[in-house]
Amino acid sequence: MRAAVVLLLLVVAEAGAEQSDALATELLAAGCNACHGPDGQGSPPVPALRGRDDLHVLLEGWREAPEAKGRAHIMIRFARALDGADTAALAAHYAADDAP
Ligand code: HEC
Repeated sequence: MRAAVVLLLLVVAEAGAEQSDALATELLAAGCNACHGPDGQGSPPVPALRGRDDLHVLLEGWREAPEAKGRAHIMIRFARALDGADTAALAAHYAADDAP
């Protein structure tokens, strides 16, 4: 019985963690969308993020070798504030076809 309760708690805690991960990604994306347009659709001259599949590469590049990129200086600061998990989550968020 006790084992079943512990198992149930673990399942509930895991579900909660997944939900708060999704919320954290939404919040991060809201920050990006402030410049990149509603839902990352782009707001000229700021490029669109939605539907792109190379965000992970670009963001990791800025984080690890910003001086090698030569452009988008404004993005270096934002990219550096993200860790690998954030970057992957954002890349998946924007690569998804189904806009929320
Ligand atoms: C303060 C405004 C601002 C915020 C906030 C911002 N960006 Fe940007 N971003 C820009 C601008 C401006 C450019 C274009 C810079 C250039 O082309 O040199 C850009 C470029 C990019 C590019 C490159 C696109 C391309 O075609 O080269 C990516 C990827 C990107 N941003 C992702 C993000 C993500 C992800 C976030 C949130 C973590 C974010 N940006 C937050 C202003 C912003």
